[in-house]
Amino acid sequence: MQPSELIWMNGEFVRWEDATVHVLTHGLHYGTGVFEGIRCYDTEIGPAVFRHVDHIDRLFKSADLYYMPMPFDRTQIRAATLELISRNGMRSCYIRPIAYRGYGTMGLFPLDAPVDVTIAVWEWGAYLGEEGKQNGIRAKVSSWRRISPDSLIPHAKASGQYLNSILAKVESHKAGYEEAILLDDKGYVCEGSGENIFVVRDGRILTPPQTASILDGINRKSIIQIARDLGFEVVERDLARAELYLADEVFVSGTAAELTPLREIDDHAIGDGRPGEITRTVQAAFEDALHGRSERYREWLDPVPVPSPAPQVA
Ligand SMILES: Cc1ncc(COP(=O)(O)O)c(C=O)c1O
Repeated sequence: MQPSELIWMNGEFVRWEDATVHVLTHGLHYGTGVFEGIRCYDTEIGPAVFRHVDHIDRLFKSADLYYMPMPFDRTQIRAATLELISRNGMRSCYIRPIAYRGYGTMGLFPLDAPVDVTIAVWEWGAYLGEEGKQNGIRAKVSSWRRISPDSLIPHAKASGQYLNSILAKVESHKAGYEEAILLDDKGYVCEGSGENIFVVRDGRILTPPQTASILDGINRKSIIQIARDLGFEVVERDLARAELYLADEVFVSGTAAELTPLREIDDHAIGDGRPGEITRTVQAAFEDALHGRSERYREWLDPVPVPSPAPQVA
């Protein structure tokens, strides 16, 4: 990870190396944190954060689902993030806001522990690799099922929940694959370890519904809208595992992975083993939206104020 100069912690800008927490931080022991993954792109209109308000909104909803009162409001978090990117002089970066139960009390009753909020930014390339975005990756259906709504809250982006994703990710990596696909507790296709999933069959784009324990991905939403605007039919429905193997095309979406095609699942080639035409078409339109090349989706970009240069002294 390439450090930036500053991190925002509880209302203050602190140096990267000084952004530390106590070892008895509640969230470190029990996973009591909620976070977001957001990206800022160097766009046609300058550095801009993709769907910033939607991400902040999901952060606040995740906090609420775990009974965490946020000590800052949405406007403050948005302003702090934009200022942080600007002060770090970055044109593109990954953004990680996290709210967590801090230092103060231990034990499983968390409501007396303080809620701390931090925002960090760093440079982060394509999570599943630039090569993967171009030519597709190989994935494995995990032996681990995605967390069930009976035990946790799939709609929340909560720190402790990611142990489930980590088990799946490590299993797939050790078996020689680049990503894991998790089924839900009923055995239907759910999502990747950190991405939503789309399957193309007979010209239609299919994706698991809200009831399949997915994280309600912001890029998923964007891709559904872009695909429909391009004239494709998009259907949200349960998907059987075999439909992955029978698919003409499969791709995943997420802030870290952006839109990445899958070329093989469980050693079955998807289509002819190369990213298909519908994937390519949607990917190109999505990349245009991310980088501000598309007028139609400009409203999804939150521009970062660029500091004006210091006045020249004669
Ligand atoms: C488990 C999981 N599913 C899906 C996604 C995709 O969500 P988004 O498009 O909002 O980044 C992510 C990434 O945040 C994730 O961690």
